[in-house]
Amino acid sequence: MDIFTNIQGFKHYLGTLKPQEKSVGFVPTMGALHEGHLELIKTSKQQNDLTICSIFVNPTQFNNPEDLNKYPRDTASDIAKLQDVLCDVVFIPTVEDMYDEHRIVNFHFGYLEEIMEGRFRPGHFSGVGLIVTKLFNLVKPNRAYFGTKDLQQLTIIKKLAKDLLFDIEIIPVETIRESDGLAMSSRNKLLSREERKQAVVLYNSLILAREKLNNQESVISVKKYISDYFESNSVIDLEYFEVVYTENLQNVSKIQKSDRVSLCIAGYLGKVRLIDNISLF
Ligand code: PAJ
Repeated sequence: MDIFTNIQGFKHYLGTLKPQEKSVGFVPTMGALHEGHLELIKTSKQQNDLTICSIFVNPTQFNNPEDLNKYPRDTASDIAKLQDVLCDVVFIPTVEDMYDEHRIVNFHFGYLEEIMEGRFRPGHFSGVGLIVTKLFNLVKPNRAYFGTKDLQQLTIIKKLAKDLLFDIEIIPVETIRESDGLAMSSRNKLLSREERKQAVVLYNSLILAREKLNNQESVISVKKYISDYFESNSVIDLEYFEVVYTENLQNVSKIQKSDRVSLCIAGYLGKVRLIDNISLF
């Protein structure tokens, strides 16, 4: 596996690829890699001649400095995992390399950043949009891979690629879960042993909500049920539970059989923020 730690060397390498006309799959990550990330790499490997992964803990998408400081980092183990799945190239730049001190560009995604993650993490998606745009411009992949675990991020990246005419196919990859159902996440590493046991309640509540909705209970009553549930008997401090159309993340008030609907949830377990979503049918 080729490893690049600065833009110059990476650009030079990318320049040597063009004549060979290989298809390039790109998997942007913030490291602390787990099976979820590796599934993106494996999917890219099946669909492309060359797979490039980036590892960069992007400061502009953290709205909370403490969250940025404690974000798990383990580059040596990340490299070993990428080697195991035969990733071809990894790009691990520094903050100084990726950002000019006097950055003035910002992104706004309208409605998409006023809801759910956007509402609770102001500025987060501007930072995501910025880094993904920079990486897309640098790597110029044919395809880029994003997890449905971060459904709102995926929706925003699809819109970004369309609006900015990036000639890049955005490929969604299903959420990989632990055996008890907890969605894999780099942040799970920050949970204590006790918290780790409790964390599955987030996924279980989604399953329960899905059952209720499939049994014709109304959206409004299921939303109330979930918020009461977390208020009365859970260790999770619920931020939101939403029932949205998967395509555009608009709120659903009444479910029709043919609609594609997702149930999205986020909350704090101690100091660790967890998110998850499942589709309705
Ligand atoms: P990160 O949280 O490291 O996630 C990198 C990619 O892995 C994202 O597309 C995410 O949705 C996907 N992913 C995370 N957990 C997953 C799981 N359990 N199953 C499947 N895929 C999963 O998302 C980011 O980094 C950043 O915002 C980034 C896009 C890299 C921009 O900085």
